Amino acid sequence: MKIAHISDLHLSAVDEVVAAIENKIAAINTAGVEHLIITGDLTQKGEETEFQLFLEILKRHNFDSSERLTVIPGNHDLFGFFFRNFQIPKDFYGSFHKLPQTALQVHKYSKKNYEDDLRSFNSIFNGVLDRVIKLSSGEIGGFPFIKVLSEQVALVALESNGLLPQLNKNAICSNGYINPVSADKIMAHETLKNKIKIVLMHHHLVPESEVTKRNGKWFSETMKLVNRQEISEIFKKHDVDLVLHGHYHYQEEYFLEDGVVKVVNNGDKNFWSLIDVSNGKIETTSTFKNPIGQQVDSQSLSERRLENF
Ligand SMILES: [Fe+2]
Repeated sequence: MKIAHISDLHLSAVDEVVAAIENKIAAINTAGVEHLIITGDLTQKGEETEFQLFLEILKRHNFDSSERLTVIPGNHDLFGFFFRNFQIPKDFYGSFHKLPQTALQVHKYSKKNYEDDLRSFNSIFNGVLDRVIKLSSGEIGGFPFIKVLSEQVALVALESNGLLPQLNKNAICSNGYINPVSADKIMAHETLKNKIKIVLMHHHLVPESEVTKRNGKWFSETMKLVNRQEISEIFKKHDVDLVLHGHYHYQEEYFLEDGVVKVVNNGDKNFWSLIDVSNGKIETTSTFKNPIGQQVDSQSLSERRLENF
């Protein structure tokens, strides 16, 4: 089975941005991909018009059914009130005059707002949630859930935007948290027995020390999954085969500290990964097309990674 993973396309109503997304989804369809996974930040500002544009593109390339598509939200999709005021990082400092008003909104954002925002995300993508398996106890906004793709493979979708906007801990709405109790519970679900388990989440699992080295302390402190270690332990305990995420705008493959659980980050919007599952085995290949549409080789890929810094 051929699965594709993309993330963080940040659709805005700018013609070139929309065209680039359309080209990417078309290329994925042409490559014979059977199921597309998008791990959040589909939109820049979580606006209805942005979601509708994205849905139209997905529909044009037949990625609009539960068999063909799985999506989870990113912080830009849920906390649109913040990203409508700030264009991080380009306009971050230029937007400081809006800070008091936005800070007040951050301060007032409640659990109820979060639940409503999650529900409205899921209602937009209601058509791709057919036959998903949830915990009997239920969870905020329909997460986490399992989607069985075939006899061999199942997806486990986690919601990692669970740290509410707060002035002291999450002022720019980019830190995350996953409920460890429900994550542990859903991964023990009997449906997952003897299946290849692919976990989807928005936030990244790169250790803070590494992110600090690359991007500085402020960035690392405002972009992290606050219970990264706890969640990593749960993934190891349940023998997760692959974790897919975005959020950190970088393309890379890495392993959790155990050296066994593989993680793929497709936060760089120029990339996508092909995940091939056959005969009980899983293989990942990352693909990059440069702006004139030529495939680049792995040597150029590593050069590009360096350019990202
Ligand atoms: Fe994000």
